Amino acid sequence: MNQEKVLVIDFGGQYNQLVARRVRECNVYCEIYSYRTELEAIRAMNPKGIILTGGPNSCYEENSPTYQKELFALGVPVLGLCYGAQVMMHVLGGKVEKAPVREYGKTEVRVNQDSPLFADVSQDTICWMSHFDYISRPAPGFAVTAHTADCPVAAAEDRENNLYAVQFHPEVLHTLEGTKILYNFVRNICGCAGSWRMDSFVEQSIEEIRNRVGSGKVLCALSGGVDSSVAAVMLAKAIGNQLTCVFVDHGLLRKQEGDEVEAVFGPEGPYQLNFIRVNAQERFYKKLAGVTEPEQKRKIIGEEFIRVFEEEAGKIGAVDFLVQGTIYPDVVESGLGGESAVIKSHHNVGGLPDCVDFKEIIEPLRNLFKDEVRRAGLELGIPETLVYRQPFPGPGLGIRIIGEVTGEKVRIVQDADAIYREEIARAGLGRTIGQYFAALTNMRSVGVMGDERTYDYAVALRAVNTVDFMTAESAEIPWEVLQTVMSRIINEVRGVNRVFYDLTSKPPGTIEFE
Ligand code: XMP
Repeated sequence: MNQEKVLVIDFGGQYNQLVARRVRECNVYCEIYSYRTELEAIRAMNPKGIILTGGPNSCYEENSPTYQKELFALGVPVLGLCYGAQVMMHVLGGKVEKAPVREYGKTEVRVNQDSPLFADVSQDTICWMSHFDYISRPAPGFAVTAHTADCPVAAAEDRENNLYAVQFHPEVLHTLEGTKILYNFVRNICGCAGSWRMDSFVEQSIEEIRNRVGSGKVLCALSGGVDSSVAAVMLAKAIGNQLTCVFVDHGLLRKQEGDEVEAVFGPEGPYQLNFIRVNAQERFYKKLAGVTEPEQKRKIIGEEFIRVFEEEAGKIGAVDFLVQGTIYPDVVESGLGGESAVIKSHHNVGGLPDCVDFKEIIEPLRNLFKDEVRRAGLELGIPETLVYRQPFPGPGLGIRIIGEVTGEKVRIVQDADAIYREEIARAGLGRTIGQYFAALTNMRSVGVMGDERTYDYAVALRAVNTVDFMTAESAEIPWEVLQTVMSRIINEVRGVNRVFYDLTSKPPGTIEFE
């Protein structure tokens, strides 16, 4: 896409996707690349600006992530954040060393409002600090533009060469005027026009899909989740009935979900797609029998998905393209984008086997964050109920059942989850919680029911609030609601005698259990 672009160069810090999201909130498109990306590749992308992220290392140590100094001579504005700021100073001849006082948390920073980076920012502003090294001497040509009580160089700039360094993290919401600072950089200093908008993205994507597909046949993997639904409708608008949507019921969906998906996308629904439902429950359960390792479960589910599609494609005849609802965090978390370690192989990216029998894959949402996917969905006229539905992972209940997956365990977690969702809706809490679901722990314990000893499973309830699904806090659900859910689950779901509420935030936990 011919789009103004800012590059986020990833040094392995924890907030790197946040940096990219904040930049996009300024209506500027950006992508994340590892610091290992060659200078030539960076130059070839013709960026309007470059942002260097934070990272966990000390830049003066041997073998720590760095970048050659020619990066700063491309004539492209560069903003270094935290570790990125230190790398900039270190490489350009300043001094970075262990700080006498480590700064962590919200910190008052005094800024020089004459700096274009701090235009319209309060003179004393609260910023998020997290560093044990500090810049003790800025590089030649740099002027100090901010300081704190403990940090003499909280920001520095070489205005002539458009190089800016800040020790704090403007991308974190605790930095009160962080978005303003990033806006100043990308819109004013880099001169981006701010043309990254959802309506034009949707229009352009539809046009691009049409050109790319020509008269080809396209098969879409429809899960009923937000991502694949948005992808499917985008494709339907671009190429109409050249598109066939295959919906695989892998037996790991929420209760009644298969029928709900069919009601929306099937022949009775509003979209008039070619819709094929494959009931493959038994096949998946068979493959998963005896498998307990989470990554292996994900891989099996992902591969089996592809196999089912291959078979369906065989029945339909020659198929040129396969559509997937991969989104940007999947790409980055799978280690394909930035510098992040492989946290989980998301089934629609990392788990893709080599022998896919399709010519090409179309991933129309590959560059979008979740909130952008939702906005695209609304642009496409998809109903809000679908666009704002609970996120549901591709591997489904397979990763909400700890350990081996069986039909019986699926039934338990489906029933418990349905009760949980019903009660959350009854209490009017649905839209206030980011994501909530029941999961089945692999733990059985002793209980008593009537006069009988029981030895049954424990269900875990999870509810998190999150802005971006990269970090999350457990949600506070009123005690009475939790109690109602607990007592209904124990009374109504055979095989459960204990209910836990998961308080863990992310990190250190993940949202899903496996
Ligand atoms: P985690 O468990 O990684 O979840 O904290 C973050 C968000 O991603 C969803 N998730 C997935 N979505 N395929 C998907 O399409 C997957 O393999 C997958 N694993 C997790 C999860 O539901 C949460 O919203």
